[in-house]
Amino acid sequence: MARKPFIAGNWKMNMTAASGAALIRELIPLVKDANCDVALCVPAVLIPAATEAAKGSNIKIGAENVHWAPSGAYTGEISCDMLKEYGVEYVIVGHSERRQYFGETDEAINMRAQAALRAGITPIICVGEMLEERETGRTNAVLSRQLTIDLGGIEDISKTVIAYEPVWAIGTGKTATDEQAQDSIAFIRKRIGELFSPEAAAKVRIQYGGSMNAKNCKGLMAQPDIDGGLIGGASLKLDFATIVNYDK
Ligand code: 13P
Repeated sequence: MARKPFIAGNWKMNMTAASGAALIRELIPLVKDANCDVALCVPAVLIPAATEAAKGSNIKIGAENVHWAPSGAYTGEISCDMLKEYGVEYVIVGHSERRQYFGETDEAINMRAQAALRAGITPIICVGEMLEERETGRTNAVLSRQLTIDLGGIEDISKTVIAYEPVWAIGTGKTATDEQAQDSIAFIRKRIGELFSPEAAAKVRIQYGGSMNAKNCKGLMAQPDIDGGLIGGASLKLDFATIVNYDK
């Protein structure tokens, strides 16, 4: 079966409950006829306002991180149950900003992803190489190491979404070329085939993320292995609707 494209936004540490809800209300009529799945991953404290604003629309609300424990002494963390209370269906785990600035390890990312799956929330698991790693020919080795640990012990890989986000392309305006993105995503699919099975790998949706915008989305989405986008900056404005409607 063909993989349904999936365009998700990642608001990062932007917007407020009021401005976020206002943007969602403006987006709703613009994305209502989308042929892809649509989600916005928002800061945890904005989830109530965002879910209320998106109610009855095809915009699903996601979170930007989740902890693996059901509850406990983990100051500053959010549990799956807290997300589920608001109907959250997706959660980003392993974003490169969490890896870079908050010491997130592949082992922790794996625990977060497994907890989300147990709770029935789809983890969007982010992988990607740094500039220096690409320039020294280590891209595939880095992706392979991240995937091996991040996906360890996952039973049904087709219930996850993978986001390939080359760190050098995030927030820099320097998008990977269509070919670079396709090559790395095809490698990720092949590696998932080795870790799980080729049949399972053929079902997993793999997004591209990194300066994806209203102009370059068509070319990226035309690549055979690219099933969607994880959109940062451009998801903070109406351009997000243009990306969601990339096929029109
Ligand atoms: P930008 O689209 O702002 O480059 O961010 C991409 C990203 O990190 C999405 O998770």
